[in-house]
Amino acid sequence: MLLKVENLDKHFGGDVPLHILRDINLELAEREFLAMIGPSGAGKTTLLNIISTLDAPTGGRVLIKNVDVHRLDQHALNRFRNRRLGFVFQDDLLLPHLTALENVALPARISRRSTRQASRRAEELLEQVGLNDRMKHKPGQLSGGQRQRVNLARALVNEPALLLADEPTARLDQATSQGIVQLLGELNEQLGVTILMVTHERELTNCAGRVVEFLDGRIVSDRSTDPGRRTCTKPLDT
Ligand SMILES: Nc1ncnc2c1ncn2[C@@H]1O[C@H](COP(=O)(O)OP(=O)(O)OP(=O)(O)O)[C@@H](O)[C@H]1O
Ligand SMILES: [Mg+2]
Repeated sequence: MLLKVENLDKHFGGDVPLHILRDINLELAEREFLAMIGPSGAGKTTLLNIISTLDAPTGGRVLIKNVDVHRLDQHALNRFRNRRLGFVFQDDLLLPHLTALENVALPARISRRSTRQASRRAEELLEQVGLNDRMKHKPGQLSGGQRQRVNLARALVNEPALLLADEPTARLDQATSQGIVQLLGELNEQLGVTILMVTHERELTNCAGRVVEFLDGRIVSDRSTDPGRRTCTKPLDT
């Protein structure tokens, strides 16, 4: 199993102590595309942050490729994140003074690949996400949908074992959102990228092979989508 979340609990302290995640158990196999849906405040981001090691659990553990990630020391953790995980958030975190190509290549440079190798891989991925003619553009010269595609390419440059996406379409209009989700579906099918995506909108779960519903810090349903009934449409030009 690529990802195993075991008996995960999360409390937040403060004046009013909050019990946000309650005994979460979740497994994700390689090449799965799981969409997680649930109302605002249900704990989706909290769970994703714990899986991505940005936050620590109060109880339970997270295994990624059999590594108990919260037991790694800081150095090992940074390395693990850089090499094994890809992130896409609702805010795009592209560096404004770098071109699309340089932004995508950056994590590969951090993992000490040569400039040439990093650029070549970044170029391939930008082609894959349909931005062949925007490689030299800076983020300010791109549309929101295009920036999010650059983000996706960047998240994939080190060939992560797991791509974590927290509402990657939150700032985009509906057609553009559908294009991004379709692209995730394609990356999942063609490159075999394993994806865990959080979204608010049920319509955006149509490209995923599995949909998990989250309510009040608990998983309340977990269903596989019949491939014949998936209504993933062709990506739109965003
Ligand atoms: N650092 C924190 N300290 C205290 N409470 C927190 C903290 N982070 C999150 N919470 C609380 O945890 C709950 C779950 O938040 P979370 O961001 O995980 O929800 P979500 O399901 O991602 O919601 P949304 O769909 O709006 O993004 C919320 O009630 C929030 O107020
Ligand atoms: Mg959230």
